Amino acid sequence: MRSISTLAILIATGTGLMAGPAFTVDATRSAGKVSPKLYGLMTEEINHAYDGGLYAELIRNRAFLDDAQSPANWSVVKDDASAATIALDTSNPLNDKIPTSLRVTATQATKDHPAGVANSGYWGIPVHPKTEYRASLWARAEAGFFDPLTVSIVSDDGRTVYASGEISGLTTEWKKFEATLKTGNVTPTAQARFAITLDQPGTVRLGLVSLFPPTWNNRPNGLRKDIMQMLVDLNPKFLRFPGGNYLEGNRVSERFPWAKTLGPIEDRPGHPCNWGYRSSDGMGLLEFLEWCEDMHAEPLLAVYAGYSLGGEHVKAGAELEPYVQEALDEIEYVIGDTKTTWGARRAKDGHPAPFNLTHVEIGNEDYFEQAKTYDDRYAQISDAIRAKYPQLKLISTTPDAKLNGRKADMVDMHDYSATDEFIKKSSNYGADMNRQGPEIFVGEWAAHEDASARPWEGPSWKLASTPSMKAAIGDGVFMAAMERNSDIIKMQCYAPLLVNVNPGARQWRPDLIGYDALSAYGSPSYYAIQMFSRNIGDEILPVTFSGTSVQGCATRDSQTGEIIVKLVNPESTPQSLPIEIKGVTSLKSKATVITLSASPEDTNSIRRPRNVVPVTTTLSGIKPGFTFTMPPYSVVVLKLQTH
Ligand code: AHR
Repeated sequence: MRSISTLAILIATGTGLMAGPAFTVDATRSAGKVSPKLYGLMTEEINHAYDGGLYAELIRNRAFLDDAQSPANWSVVKDDASAATIALDTSNPLNDKIPTSLRVTATQATKDHPAGVANSGYWGIPVHPKTEYRASLWARAEAGFFDPLTVSIVSDDGRTVYASGEISGLTTEWKKFEATLKTGNVTPTAQARFAITLDQPGTVRLGLVSLFPPTWNNRPNGLRKDIMQMLVDLNPKFLRFPGGNYLEGNRVSERFPWAKTLGPIEDRPGHPCNWGYRSSDGMGLLEFLEWCEDMHAEPLLAVYAGYSLGGEHVKAGAELEPYVQEALDEIEYVIGDTKTTWGARRAKDGHPAPFNLTHVEIGNEDYFEQAKTYDDRYAQISDAIRAKYPQLKLISTTPDAKLNGRKADMVDMHDYSATDEFIKKSSNYGADMNRQGPEIFVGEWAAHEDASARPWEGPSWKLASTPSMKAAIGDGVFMAAMERNSDIIKMQCYAPLLVNVNPGARQWRPDLIGYDALSAYGSPSYYAIQMFSRNIGDEILPVTFSGTSVQGCATRDSQTGEIIVKLVNPESTPQSLPIEIKGVTSLKSKATVITLSASPEDTNSIRRPRNVVPVTTTLSGIKPGFTFTMPPYSVVVLKLQTH
């Protein structure tokens, strides 16, 4: 049965079925340069993307500020011969930034029957074999308590100690303690917690408590290695941060507080995140920047522009001035000379060299604002940034805004559509884009499987956090469209990027990469993006497709002459597609073919992480005119070598 999408393409391309299918690549000319920054990443704190995700901290509610009423995620450790109580304590704060500590009183405890407190982590503490964990905590003892404290990673039932260490030297003053915990040859599990116990009666107060597994590049306040590897494998050229709605917060007072996210973690109280939980701010401005550095990607910094998700806005003019200054200071932190105030602060934080910032986005989705004040706010903020940093490209969040006569260098356009909608709009996408206008940044996009389950609507809650192959088809046709138009679409990034798949962890679906405490996996969409971003030339080659529902794009590597054709078959049947490469007299007979193909409902998960993955094969008999048969529901990259 022919789908509506097929008909739409036939109408869009003005070609009847009678003409027979054809996919033509015009290699006689280039339709423009492929943007070298086309493929990037977008990220924000959503779905426990950082806390309980990429940020490797294992202790949840490490500063005891998640819940003012009770020590959330902390519980008493005791057995039938020991006893303890725990309580939040606001009368003995660790410092003026973290006003709450945890009082732990062991009322009955011995060496064989210790008592204390345990943290359950983010859906468990991951135990990996032969692994070193770095524990740190701030503690002070009540007079009369004598050392030591035992810190350990133990099974939920308390019977198995996977690793442990001792802390001694407590006094009645706050002091920081560190211990290394080493596991043996254990079976991986997340049914474990982190315990701090006393082996005698007494009271101690705990300040910030932290536990890190090994991190990417061994950064002390670093990132989870498995997820980082997956991100690096996407070959991203930039990272858009810190949002998204996370930049704005629900209220002006809950915007991303970049200045409070700097320095030692015991100086970071965290802040309420608009996605329904408190952010630890362990993932602070410097961590974002070093994350970019570790991926060899540029930071694309979004600065707060005076509008928050709940509808509050700051009036342009004098009221907005402190926020303008805040944005200027933030940029100074990123690129300022070390003689500047914030450049010096960056150096003090351990990174004297400025980062390679070229793009700054002003706000996020300001078109949702009822009061429509973006023109004024953008004008004021962009004037100030341009005056100080004329080299930066500025991005507006509102495509049709007049911006009080200011010109944005780029506009950010977001697109969350169902696969069928992407199929429909992608075949002719970009034809009406104004090549004289600002460059285009598709700063958030993703295909969801069906229009009946939009990411922000109820029915989507019943679906898995990460998308199925059906969504990857929508992603594929849209990426092909963006690549065909990458002379004007200079940057694009899928969103959201990350999701903790434990029940209750997510706020939005679909998401590209899923994980729990122990492992991570990529959705079929992840692999489709990887296929696109890792196989790309620098010249756009014009393509025409007619009499077929297959969509695609082509680029050429001007250094090697390689022609890279990307094709997406949205049909349930194989598609035999005559492909003509015009302007090339001969091609090497052997081509590399990368294929992602599965049933629309097929997907990956923690249990089946590699159920749908690309397969690389070699195809012979390639000529400037050849017929290629695409499997049903497939995304294919053909790498054709010229002589
Ligand atoms: O990606 C999820 C959310 O969708 C982003 O935070 C927001 O910018 C958009 O509406």
